[in-house]
Parts: sequence; structure tokens; C-alpha cells
Amino acid sequence: MSIEETPCIQGFVRMCNDGWNQGWHERNGGNLTYRMTDEDVAAVKPYFTEEPGNWVEMGVCAEDLAGQYFITTGSGKYMRNVALATSDAIGIVEINDKGDSYRIVWGLDNGGRPTSEFPTHFLNHSVRAKATQGANRVIYHAHTPAVIAMTNILPLDARTFSRELWKTMTECIVVFPMGVGVVPWMVPGGSEIAVATSELMKTYDAAIWSQHGLFCSGPDFDTTFGLMHTIEKSAQIWCQTRAINGNQPFANTITDEGLRQIGKDFNIEVNEAFLD
Ligand code: 13P
Ligand code: ZN
Repeated sequence: MSIEETPCIQGFVRMCNDGWNQGWHERNGGNLTYRMTDEDVAAVKPYFTEEPGNWVEMGVCAEDLAGQYFITTGSGKYMRNVALATSDAIGIVEINDKGDSYRIVWGLDNGGRPTSEFPTHFLNHSVRAKATQGANRVIYHAHTPAVIAMTNILPLDARTFSRELWKTMTECIVVFPMGVGVVPWMVPGGSEIAVATSELMKTYDAAIWSQHGLFCSGPDFDTTFGLMHTIEKSAQIWCQTRAINGNQPFANTITDEGLRQIGKDFNIEVNEAFLD
């Protein structure tokens, strides 16, 4: 048995590979973090390095995540290499008892560091864990091309984007019934984008980063990947439709009454504020 065979590392690696295969991770684009369960930690602990790394301050603080462990992709690492050189491309970090610093306990060989978006992921793990009574454990950021294309031409607000995505593909409203948040263009990797995103993630489980990509959260790898995939697929159809009809509004679309009806029949609460 090796650490690469433990279920949490296997699920993490598979998701990185799936994202690479979708074309969402050019170069080092995108990042993934997972808040480990006690069982996960017990399974990987025998593989921890004898000497953990130094404590590194994150510039953000979340006391509720003190003492937790996260699997994280490395800064500057390529998603396509995660399956091939796992302990170089990803690592496990432990959070200190104040909830403001991490240290590396496994992986990120050769002097690697957690993703530059780790402060953003960390703050949003805290927000999403609170919003879902601890259920959400995964945060995923990808450079999804069609979503980025939409941000080049549409007004950058949650209502506009949610409605366009819901009305393009029928089951979108089932997958993200609250809609998606939209963060205006910002410098990546800083505390400003961390805070702006975390404000939105109190309401939504997905936030669009203008001219940059998408940021999603969920309880497990499949659900979070599925959310990213669904949003990007709808965006892709939206872009294709706009390309073939001269960038005009669609001739046929799902009505607001139709969206409400899906909510009723699927027994899900949809964000009424986004419906006419
Ligand atoms: P990292 O390589 O530091 O994860 O950065 C990639 C990225 O997509 C930043 O938003
Ligand atoms: Zn990015």
C-alpha cells in the first residue's frame, strides 16, 4: 500500500486528471483543495514526512478550520502532471490552532508550495462548511473557456449569468438552483479576491471570476466536478448559439414559468429573486 492508493488521494488525482482532459487547465491553470475527514487523515498519517515544514501565515484566518488537514495542488504545478508525479504536484497541509497558518506534512516534494489561491480556498472552505453544516469539503478552480468568453460580453452580475445559464440547458436549475455569483475582474491569488469570493459563496456554491474562470464548491469530488462541468457545458452551448445566430438573444428559450415548474416537480427551492 502507498499513499497514492488511499481513497482520498485517488479521488483527488482523478479529479485533477478529469479537469485536464476537459481542457480547463492550460499550463498551471486552476487548483483543487479537499478538507480531509478524520478517516482520511488516519489513512495517510503513516506517510507523513518525519519533519513537517515550517508554519506559513496565510494572510486570512478561519478559527473553525484550526487543526484541519487539506490536500492541495501546488503553486505552479500542472494538473496534467498530478497523476504522473503525484507527490511533486500535490501535498497535504495541516492548519495551526489559530487557523491562520499551514505547514506541509506530506508531498510538494522539491520545495513546492500550496496553490497561490490557497488563502482563497481556505476562506471559502470555512464559508461553505458553515453554509452546509460541514457537508462541503471540496473547492475547485478551473479556467473554463466558455464561461470566460461569456464574461467578455455580458453584464457582470449574478442575476444575468444565472438566468442565461439556466435558460440555455434544462437541468442547470436543478444543479445550481441558487444561481452563480459573479466576481468582477481582480488580481488572482490575493486576499481581495479571497474576500470577494467568500462573500458570494455564503449564498452560491459557484462563483464566476471574470476573464479568469470558475470557482466551485461541493461535498465530494464527483458533485463538485459535476457542478463545474454543468456550468461550463451550458456556457459552451450559450457561446455556440450566440455564434450561429449573430450574437442575438435566443429565438427559443425556457420561460421563467418553465424554470419555476422544474423547481416544483423536482422539489427544489430555486432562487426566486432571479426569476421574472
Ligand atoms: P497556482 O499555480 O498557484 O495554483 O495558480 C494557478 C491559477 O489558476 C491562479 O488562479
Ligand atoms: Zn486561475
